[in-house]
Amino acid sequence: MASVQSVCMSGEGETSYAKNSAIQSGVQSRVKPLVEEAISDLCRSAVPGCLRVADLGCSSGPNALALASAAVDAVRRQPHWAERCREICVYLNDLPENDFNTVFKDVPSSLRGYGGVDRDSGLLVMVFGAPGSFYGRLFPAKTLHLVCSSFSLHWLSQVPQELVDGVLINKGSVSAGRTSTPAVTAAYARQFEQDFKRFLGSRAEEMVPGGWMVLSLYGRPANDFSSQDRYPEFIAEILQDLASQGVIAAAEVDSFNEPFYSPCQEELRGAVEQEGSFEIVGLESHDFLERGPRGDAERSKAMARFLRVLDEWLLVRHFRVDGIGDAYARAAEERYMGPAAEEDMTGVVLILSLRRRK
Ligand SMILES: C[S@@+](CC[C@H](N)C(=O)[O-])C[C@H]1O[C@@H](n2cnc3c(N)ncnc32)[C@H](O)[C@@H]1O
Repeated sequence: MASVQSVCMSGEGETSYAKNSAIQSGVQSRVKPLVEEAISDLCRSAVPGCLRVADLGCSSGPNALALASAAVDAVRRQPHWAERCREICVYLNDLPENDFNTVFKDVPSSLRGYGGVDRDSGLLVMVFGAPGSFYGRLFPAKTLHLVCSSFSLHWLSQVPQELVDGVLINKGSVSAGRTSTPAVTAAYARQFEQDFKRFLGSRAEEMVPGGWMVLSLYGRPANDFSSQDRYPEFIAEILQDLASQGVIAAAEVDSFNEPFYSPCQEELRGAVEQEGSFEIVGLESHDFLERGPRGDAERSKAMARFLRVLDEWLLVRHFRVDGIGDAYARAAEERYMGPAAEEDMTGVVLILSLRRRK
């Protein structure tokens, strides 16, 4: 099995990310106030006539333009600064497989001020696509004022090589979880640290001194992996169900691992401090999901759709089975309808705001 290098969540129709991203939209609404704070700060400093904003891992659907819109609207609320700023460039990044066509079709209706100078504020908003991995350089040096990324950085550049090579086996789990061995959790932690530092180093080159970055990602509440939610084991249980039903080969279940890691606050802080280019303005932790009733049909369907959007791409690549998305969603729904010892997704959302050192 080749190393899983990337994830892609575009999809099509009813099972697409565009139609199943309400939970992530809730995360974005926590990020928006910090985007506003960043814009206010940038307005006070000497930003030249053109403000450049990037959303990294924008995906497609209603969320793809939400943070960019929040930034543009925040600029409009800064009248004195608007007198000096005539142009805003919005750069939308995701992996090349992302459905950028849909994103760009939505631009005219979603981004106020796009397509001509806005009569009220005199602003001109321009939008550009930037396909590629955010773990490398995407933009020219010293060009970006504000970088946002919501709910994307928990996706690693790859599954740790030791697991891809089969040197480590993560039985009963699909990423670093509470039942994983210390060697497996350490391999995931190293991969995250390496990726996150590469992310920070790339942005450090692309951002202007004093520029802001606002990031949200799935996290675990404490340093200890016992605080990790049951997501990695829950997915493995669904895969076991599919193997019992004969949908996938049982022999291929243990080698399925996701390029996913939920860090704790300490890990984020440590990586930022070691990389050294950014100062931490804030680091918040919020509950990810409101706890809902177990066995509720509507909630079970919604959670199953949510998991399918996250995992279908990876499952297709690993198991190479037609219709695996449907079977996976059905199995997930059945598990959500059944009794559970505890909640499965009790992780936190970590929101980090950073400022590029001068
Ligand atoms: C859960 S979606 C979040 C989308 C959107 N930001 C939101 O808040 O709804 C994660 C997105 O990150 C993208 N992604 C994952 N790894 C990436 C990488 N290395 N570079 C760029 N985008 C990446 C995926 O393709 C996916 O569209």
